[in-house]
Amino acid sequence: MTLEEKVGQLTQMGGGTQATGPQAATGTEEDIRRGHIGSFLGVWGAETTRRLQRIAVEETRLHIPLLFASDVIHGFRTIFPVPLAEAASWDVALAERCARVAALEATAHGLHWDYAPMVDIARDARWGRVVEGAGEDPFLGSAFAVARVRGLQGHTPGSADAMIATAKHFVAYGAAEAGRDYNTADISERTLREVYLPPFRAAVEAGAGSIMAAFNELAGVPMHANRRLLRDVLRDEWGFRGVVVSDYAGIEQLMAHGVAATPADAAREALSAGIDVDMVSGLYLRELPALARRDPRLSRAIDDAVRRVLQAKQSLGLFDDPYRYSDVAREAARTSTPEARALSREAARESLVLLENRGQILPLPKGLATLAVIGALADDTRSVLGNWAAVGRPQEAVSILAGIRAAVSPKTRVLYARGASARSDDTSGFAEAESAARSADAIIAVVGETEDMSGEARSRARLELPGAQQGLIERLAAIQKPLVVILLNGRPLVLSGVVARAPAVLEAWYPGSEGGNAVADVVFGDHDPSGKLPISFPRAVGQLPMSYAHKPTGRPPSDSESYTSKYLDVAVTPLYVFGHGLGYTRFEYDTPRLSATRIDPEGELRVQVTVHNTGQRAGDEVVQLYLRDDVASFTRPVRSLRGFARVSLAPGSAEEVTFTLDRDDFALLDADDKRVIEAGTFTVFVGGSSSAERSAQFEVTRGERLTGRGSAVPRFMRSASARW
Ligand code: GLC
Repeated sequence: MTLEEKVGQLTQMGGGTQATGPQAATGTEEDIRRGHIGSFLGVWGAETTRRLQRIAVEETRLHIPLLFASDVIHGFRTIFPVPLAEAASWDVALAERCARVAALEATAHGLHWDYAPMVDIARDARWGRVVEGAGEDPFLGSAFAVARVRGLQGHTPGSADAMIATAKHFVAYGAAEAGRDYNTADISERTLREVYLPPFRAAVEAGAGSIMAAFNELAGVPMHANRRLLRDVLRDEWGFRGVVVSDYAGIEQLMAHGVAATPADAAREALSAGIDVDMVSGLYLRELPALARRDPRLSRAIDDAVRRVLQAKQSLGLFDDPYRYSDVAREAARTSTPEARALSREAARESLVLLENRGQILPLPKGLATLAVIGALADDTRSVLGNWAAVGRPQEAVSILAGIRAAVSPKTRVLYARGASARSDDTSGFAEAESAARSADAIIAVVGETEDMSGEARSRARLELPGAQQGLIERLAAIQKPLVVILLNGRPLVLSGVVARAPAVLEAWYPGSEGGNAVADVVFGDHDPSGKLPISFPRAVGQLPMSYAHKPTGRPPSDSESYTSKYLDVAVTPLYVFGHGLGYTRFEYDTPRLSATRIDPEGELRVQVTVHNTGQRAGDEVVQLYLRDDVASFTRPVRSLRGFARVSLAPGSAEEVTFTLDRDDFALLDADDKRVIEAGTFTVFVGGSSSAERSAQFEVTRGERLTGRGSAVPRFMRSASARW
């Protein structure tokens, strides 16, 4: 390979259809013929990819096939709930199934490389990209990272429906100061290791074929030039052998960061730091050949990067059959299948979180004489898909209004009024909405954010309902009819003003192609809500960033003591805690039973708890186990999630759930970033949310230094063929 041909393999060009940043270098057929492109971003379609692949294979000197990459974040044509919603299901098996179907559709359209899963931990809801991840907790985030990687890559390596999964954005992108996208992240090494790195390590352990660097700087070093993390940690410490891809023109942005004076400096710094593939900046192609001719180290770095790109192509079988993903018949057969739609509806149902249900307003009867459905979002099929919806088609999506209409009895009169929208302060729709509400037996208000108010470059400094929606809720509440609020949104909102007025509030996020049907399934009782929040909902934006796994401080908040860590104007607790979610029945927990009260650090502790369904309906419950290291050499979170399990219980029945804790759960990092277990007591909490009260204590009898990093994959998912 000539130097230019090598650098061509490290160059990814845009297809002109997908811009999420400054206008990208768009690849042409002539670029392919010259060997200047190794992969495309945002080009798909069996016919299109076959045509471009043929040029690469038949009209170039080396016949190296192209890779086609895109963002298949929560489905390709059949859209699943947004990732934050899917995480609210706490159902990792379901998440894997959804990722698998997304891969089936995407690979049938010629795509090889998926820029998913996004595994950034997020504890600041002002940040728009919180919608793309699995929330605030590294244990839950690691579980979903593993499930999504396994789903996308499949279990039969080399099959023509396997995609290369990309864990992104490496790393601490969600720690952006002030929740402002692309902003500085400045966190301690301990927080980096304990909170932000684990889901990436879990994804690498699960075999993710690619990692994407983050736009942000971390403690003064932009991630696209961060050799310590991209090489020393990712490759040397974790043994990652896949491809590292820049984010969109991220290499060029090293100049904006002020760490590169010229494009040549930026290209050199990125390659030296460990970025293999240049996404759409074009700097590698323009600058590296000349630089490498003068610097053998760069030439070696180029060879290493090219080898990884070629290995990725080899792993997909593209050298044997470059056209195996570009099959028009398969594309048609695998798109929008009834099975995919059914799975989307199942996933959406499980992602819904019942936040409030005072007076058991829900489920509503299907036979109401008149039902008023109010809100612009009720009829918005674009928003029901959410952002990053690939080729999902709004016209193929089921709106909340359509789902309700399809579910109620033919005798029910459904009145719709737009009322208000998220996009404007216009209140002229209030009168029509109030009129419809007055003539109804119950009111369903659909409010929240339009899909473009969450996602990349969509940070918000205020988190109340946008537009005139809060005013609409107040007007509807004044009518004194049963009022149900359904939320469409991509982040925790400040809902105090909503919850005070609406006895029933259902969090629907952006539920995907079947969203309206899934919401109706729960609203009318065909499905029991079981979702649990993967992220805390604040009372006020001023509380952010926040997490249930906070540190105790030296002055824990106290209502009776003034000089403690709290606010004068808002309670310190969230409005809804991590792990919160109601059902239509009620669950109660016995005190957890431990297999021992004193254990050796090398031992295993079994925690058994009996869960009772004490209500009148069957229901699913996500049993959660939290652990606290009561006293340690370093401050520890007041509790950390270390296990969860779904149980389905008939009314009046009970089930015993068993968790196993081991050294990975007891360990902490010492001052040298080495894992140690310290003698002392730990407290286990078990319940239906992070405010679980049922607890038991045990003691680790002696300390121990641990070798190695242990596993970041949650124990119950560790065996490759694990079915949990
Ligand atoms: C965007 C996003 C990244 C995405 C890439 C390609 O800017 O940061 O998540 O994969 O560009 O679309």
